[in-house]
Amino acid sequence: MSQPIVVVLAAGLGTRMKSDRAKVLHEVAGRPLVVWAVETALAAGAGRVVVVLGHQMEAIRTLLDARYGAGRIEVAHQPEQKGTGHAVQCALPALASEPDDRTVVILYGDAPLLRAERVAELARAADRSPAHIALLSTRPSAPVAYGRLVRDGEGKLLRIVEHADASEAERAIGEMNAGFYAVRLRELRADLASLGSNNAQGEIYLTDLAERAAPRGGAAVIDAPFDEVTGINDRVDLARTEREARLRILERWMIEGVTVADPASTYIDAEVGPIGRDTWIGPGVCLRGKTRVGARARIDTGSVLTDVEVLDEAMVKPYTVASEASIGERAQTGPFAHLRPGTMLETDVRVGNFVETKKAHLMPGAKANHLTYLGDVSVGARANVGAGTITCNYDGFAKHRTTIEAGAFIGSDTQLVAPVTVGRDAYVASGTTVTKDVPRSALALSRVKQVNVEGWADRFREAGAKRKVNRASSKPDD
Ligand code: UD1
Ligand code: CA
Repeated sequence: MSQPIVVVLAAGLGTRMKSDRAKVLHEVAGRPLVVWAVETALAAGAGRVVVVLGHQMEAIRTLLDARYGAGRIEVAHQPEQKGTGHAVQCALPALASEPDDRTVVILYGDAPLLRAERVAELARAADRSPAHIALLSTRPSAPVAYGRLVRDGEGKLLRIVEHADASEAERAIGEMNAGFYAVRLRELRADLASLGSNNAQGEIYLTDLAERAAPRGGAAVIDAPFDEVTGINDRVDLARTEREARLRILERWMIEGVTVADPASTYIDAEVGPIGRDTWIGPGVCLRGKTRVGARARIDTGSVLTDVEVLDEAMVKPYTVASEASIGERAQTGPFAHLRPGTMLETDVRVGNFVETKKAHLMPGAKANHLTYLGDVSVGARANVGAGTITCNYDGFAKHRTTIEAGAFIGSDTQLVAPVTVGRDAYVASGTTVTKDVPRSALALSRVKQVNVEGWADRFREAGAKRKVNRASSKPDD
């Protein structure tokens, strides 16, 4: 079979979403609905993908061009949304050069969970059916406002009646139109031209193709599980689909050898991966964006990683929040670490609790274990950054860099006023404010010299106690 042509209908605003954003730009598992549909088409081996756009066409086109390369996904314009049948009419000029015997698969852009195998199954069924059309049906367990499949006594599909147009008796039909079709171009061209809009919504319904096909033997119907074909019309559907997508994504990773301790509370976005074998993911973890995780890593409870690279055997302890960062082999972060964009932790680095990093490069074995801010900094191999260290990287106008060279030791409660360099193996005493470069192997010390006054504390307390007694006895006794 030749590569199918897939048309994705995505022009609608999605009134029921009550949103300023076109419906197909809403996301499921971090991926816009329109991208789910295009991914399904491409995974099914589509030669051409034509997306029909109307609302927010330019934003959607830009997104598709950025992701797939300019023009790889073709766009047809539906200037006014006059119904699903009209939307396909708008795609026909793009297919003008295709021969009459090609089969076109039509997907709705608001139904993200269709499996790619179905596309091929649909196309095959259309090729085999005498009417050269096939569609997916579904039997939801709870009632939904979908089109109903009306069959005759022999089971032949006579027509699809939209919920808005259906009689009570028709609404009782459990077999619904899932909204996916495969049609030979000859029939598609001829039948689309004949569709009217004499119905409750005054729209040109694509579903009327079923009625056209009835005299030719009827459309072939393939039943699909509701979970796979659900269309998203409102935010309740969005959340339900999100849950389904999430479980599907988690199952995929579990099958690939990743332990997910609590699938009910774990969120892994569609674009995340790969995730290596024997990696353990704890409850409440969110992996977002283009996060990648190596093998035998541990990502513990409540960690939220966005566009992060986690290498083999890294240990991301609970409540690590990181974005656009790299966590090296066997590196450890958290609990409660905040790795901001431009953080690069190399092998065996440790970043402990209440440490915030930004544009920070920590070289192998470097440590910053407690209560520290590291911004615009490079920390050399094996350097140790003590508790309460702050890089003062911002003077209110510009950012400045701090360099801590290999093996340096930064004592607790140090401020490094950038730009500044602490040389290799140098030692910064606790409580120092470093404003000048520290030479290699030197000690930097900026604290005020300590004074001890013998017996001072005892005298202070005695004097204080006396004052208290005097005050009490001088009070008028009323
Ligand atoms: C549609 C079907 C219904 C089916 C249901 C399954 C029709 C008439 N009805 O109803 O039988 O049970 O899907 O989910 O087809 N679109 C356009 N241009 C338009 C109108 C719609 O591109 O003029 C796009 C939308 O952006 C959307 C898709 O087509 O992605 C479906 O449209 P929608 O309005 O959601 O159809 P439903 O009412 O859900
Ligand atoms: Ca819909």
